[in-house]
Amino acid sequence: MTQMNINDLRGCKVLFSGYHAPQIGVIEAFHDAVLTLDERGTIVSIEANGDPREAVRLPKDWILIPGLVDLHVHAPQYAQLGTALDVPLEDWLQTYTFPLEARFSDLTYAEHVYSALIDDMLAIGTTTALHFATVHVPATQRLAEICLIKGQRALVGKVAMDDPNQCPQDYRDASAQAAIDGTRAVIDHINSLPDNDGMVFPVITPRFIPSCTDACLEGLGQLAAETGAHIQSHISESDWQHGYVQDRCGCSDSEAFERFGLMRDNAVFAHGTHLSDKDMDLMVTHGAGVAHCPLSNAYFAGAVFPLRRALDKGLHVGFGSDISGGPSGSLWETARMGISAARMRETGVQAQIESEIRGTKDRRIDFREAFFLATRGGGQALGLPVGTFEPGMKFDAIAIDPTRRDGTVRIWTEDTPQNLGDLLLEKLLYTVSKPNIACVWTDAINRLK
Ligand code: GUN
Ligand code: FE
Repeated sequence: MTQMNINDLRGCKVLFSGYHAPQIGVIEAFHDAVLTLDERGTIVSIEANGDPREAVRLPKDWILIPGLVDLHVHAPQYAQLGTALDVPLEDWLQTYTFPLEARFSDLTYAEHVYSALIDDMLAIGTTTALHFATVHVPATQRLAEICLIKGQRALVGKVAMDDPNQCPQDYRDASAQAAIDGTRAVIDHINSLPDNDGMVFPVITPRFIPSCTDACLEGLGQLAAETGAHIQSHISESDWQHGYVQDRCGCSDSEAFERFGLMRDNAVFAHGTHLSDKDMDLMVTHGAGVAHCPLSNAYFAGAVFPLRRALDKGLHVGFGSDISGGPSGSLWETARMGISAARMRETGVQAQIESEIRGTKDRRIDFREAFFLATRGGGQALGLPVGTFEPGMKFDAIAIDPTRRDGTVRIWTEDTPQNLGDLLLEKLLYTVSKPNIACVWTDAINRLK
């Protein structure tokens, strides 16, 4: 056995045990499998019974899973994580969030918050993230640079918001044209970053329909057609937001986005609690996806996202933490809440109602489906080669050490792989915490400090 540097596995063979979910509901386990990586950190092959000679052997207790994909992060809002959860969405934006985001005109402050965020996300295993930055071009460009330097695979968008009716005077784009020009400037900047080999991508980011004028949305739609850049926004989140768009546009969010040319392949829309069947069908037709943010939805959406319905329709779905609408930046916590929320939809919540009619049948998801959503589901929604251990995929992975005394996983003597099988993955999904995360690779390089 050759002893090699586990912090840089590019060009190596790796002997490992672990799990991935190649499709929703399907878990594959690996026991002493051999993975071959090329010089850019892409998986070339994976052999269940490969030749372990010349392979890097990871510590025997470690369990590898693909890195987690967070489909919805407001990077600046990390500064208010775990606070400001007491008022409805429309008040929360005006009272807490816009004033906080306005501070990111200060590049030093932006660097301070963004550096901490990316370090902390990587430390908990989030290897890919779809970020909303702020309205400011320089701070948004800096966020992209920080992601590149620290090695988080990231999609970064300058927030476009120009409607004076909904955005404060000191925190908005000066005009629709300014929003479009600023977005283009960030796209050009990210596309010309040196040594950016598929690590950081630009995203066209209208905040949500209420904060953008028609001219802004139209211009961003044209920019999407011209550049082919990713798109992100919020969709049908809360009665207020859903109603606002109905009143202004005379249609649902999804129909309005389609009209503006913003409903496209790999566009990712957050929340979607109020999406109708027709809305979902429209999104499927365009190849768009939903960032399911169950923690945030409990505080701001006023409803639980109809996840099972979305999955049955073949809609792309992954999880989003929605920092700071969701009070945790951990995708583990998000996935756990996703399972709980679906379960409560199934059972219903009011004991006074007869149990047969209290909930909605067959709404649950289990740990296998949640694991898929947290990994490949997110990768698929973004159209990126991440989320499984298969040839052609980037080696973005987490090594879990379940033996750490300061961690929260407990393996009992009867918990042998033979006894537990996939249920070991279930235990990990529910009980892992930061001390259990031993290595976090993107492009086969360990990014932990
Ligand atoms: N809608 C518009 N902006 C936001 C935001 O920052 N967070 C959430 N959850 N919803 C939004
Ligand atoms: Fe959000």
